[in-house]
Amino acid sequence: MRRAVCPGSYDPATNGHLDVIERAAHLFDEVVVAVLINKSKRGMFTIDERMELLQESTAKLPNVRVDSWHGLLTDYCKEQGIQSIVKGLRSVSDFDYELQMAQMNREISGVETLLMSNNPAYSFLSSSLVKEVATYGGDVTGMVPPAVHDRLLARIAEND
Ligand code: PNS
Repeated sequence: MRRAVCPGSYDPATNGHLDVIERAAHLFDEVVVAVLINKSKRGMFTIDERMELLQESTAKLPNVRVDSWHGLLTDYCKEQGIQSIVKGLRSVSDFDYELQMAQMNREISGVETLLMSNNPAYSFLSSSLVKEVATYGGDVTGMVPPAVHDRLLARIAEND
């Protein structure tokens, strides 16, 4: 059984994330989308909310499941018997950061990382920018899954 994890903050998931998850699901028998903590980012959604949004957004993908983890990604891989990490690359600046994490993760655990080129249609997308644009009333339809769109607008209205 070939199993991979697509890790991320997913605060919230964008269509760029979904594109990578869907393509990974074609390559592996099982894909776990794992919500992890990125200590350098402040969240708009709780971990449970992010998982719920991911579950709704990946419901049509039978070999994808959603989970969360509070420790090292490589410890999660070990615990779950996962051999590969899959991440999307939008740009050269992503590459620097992702390569460093991939090398560190391999050094400490032997787990391999596959860096997948993003669909160029989504290369400008990030959770942070989507939140910023939506907060100032910009239209983010088509940038996030429908379930995320509605919850994002609701959360912004709550925070107002
Ligand atoms: O979506 P992001 O914020 O780019 O994802 C980064 C994430 C959450 C995958 C990364 O910060 C991570 O793996 N965090 C878990 C803790 C860990 O393993 N840190 C060591 C990374 S080499």
